[in-house]
Amino acid sequence: MIPFSPPFIDEDVINEVMDSLKSTWITTGPKVKALEQEVAKITGASNCLCVNSATSAMMLMLHWFGIGKGDEVIIPSYTYCATALAVMHLGATAVMVDAGKDFCINTGKIKDAITGKTKAVVPVDIAGFPCDYNEINKIISEPGIVELFQPANEIQKKLGRIFVMADSAHSIGAVYGNRKSGVLCDATVFSFHAVKNVTTAEGGAICINLPEPFDNGELYSWLRLLSLNGQTKDAYTKSLGGNWRYDIVYPGFKINLNDLCAAVGLAQIRKYSDELLTKRIEIFKKYNDGFADCDWAELPPFRTEVKESSCHIYLLRIKNISEEQRDRIIDRITEKGVSVNVHFVPLPMLTAFRERNYRIEDYPVSYDNYSREITLPVYPQLSDEDLGTVIRSVKDSYNEVIKAENAQKSF
Ligand SMILES: Cc1ncc(COP(=O)(O)O)c(C=O)c1O
Repeated sequence: MIPFSPPFIDEDVINEVMDSLKSTWITTGPKVKALEQEVAKITGASNCLCVNSATSAMMLMLHWFGIGKGDEVIIPSYTYCATALAVMHLGATAVMVDAGKDFCINTGKIKDAITGKTKAVVPVDIAGFPCDYNEINKIISEPGIVELFQPANEIQKKLGRIFVMADSAHSIGAVYGNRKSGVLCDATVFSFHAVKNVTTAEGGAICINLPEPFDNGELYSWLRLLSLNGQTKDAYTKSLGGNWRYDIVYPGFKINLNDLCAAVGLAQIRKYSDELLTKRIEIFKKYNDGFADCDWAELPPFRTEVKESSCHIYLLRIKNISEEQRDRIIDRITEKGVSVNVHFVPLPMLTAFRERNYRIEDYPVSYDNYSREITLPVYPQLSDEDLGTVIRSVKDSYNEVIKAENAQKSF
């Protein structure tokens, strides 16, 4: 069986983890700091904070902005549940906007969703393909939209407009214009979950990129404190001796990343740009070449004049098929020993959201994307032979299910 997404664990990863174990410092300390510096280097962000997941990173940022009951946050309907849950756990309402054909939020529909209660927009870089940030940043800065914004605290007054936080769980290393994912809007959240391009088993990071008069360095220190119960000194600082007294200055969260996990990501991220990401891009190209002769295959967005994907997952769509036919093709692919997936079941189709009155009928493009989609594996360990097997299995399965059906119909 070709697995869907095994983590990249080489000798360097093992050595880095061993280094942490041998040092006897295993919770937040030098490895986390070093990982933060590597993320800053890759993205160009001046400040990056690592925490224990992208979900808690998003909750932390939205909480910092003062988002809570009565507020609305715009998110796409086509994403993983975490985008919505981060909003809902703060007591705010997730206002969903349909996707475009590129799987990302349809920026043309954002304006219609903005009300006097809108406090933030959370675009999601699906599969690593960046959203249209220039367009989003333009919309939230339009005079009519700025006028509608009702600040409820000093931070909101200081920004004076809707806050844009990218859910870039998939897009570390992606490019938009001449900038990297991480500095395309006010704040950017990456996921280091086990299946992501860079992993710490579980983990996440926030790149802070607020405009003046915000001080991003100061904000980093504050968020770091908020991620550690609101405590003025972390365990590492206290361990250095003669430094035991501390205070809790705010009722914070306990969402810090630990050094053992950071060590995994640290070894990976050092070879990310030159090796791991390059390999992912090659895999995308090989899939594109492999399906180039299939008029039924709709290839995923990858590169445009301004965008470059981080090639997290390969979202293949098949033209003119139903959801039920897609499911049968997936069954056939699985029988052939290839593990594939579907990204994503649109949120309004999931029970927790259906019960809260979101209706898939209101998100037709999300449904269309989902119903014809099969996610193919992308990870550096895949050999050319593996890719050949994946491509062949998809083509054979399509032929077995769809061509056979069409032939029967015309008979
Ligand atoms: C689009 C998106 N956002 C957020 C998350 C949540 O990431 P984490 O598991 O690090 O909280 C994921 C995880 O799969 C995701 O795919």
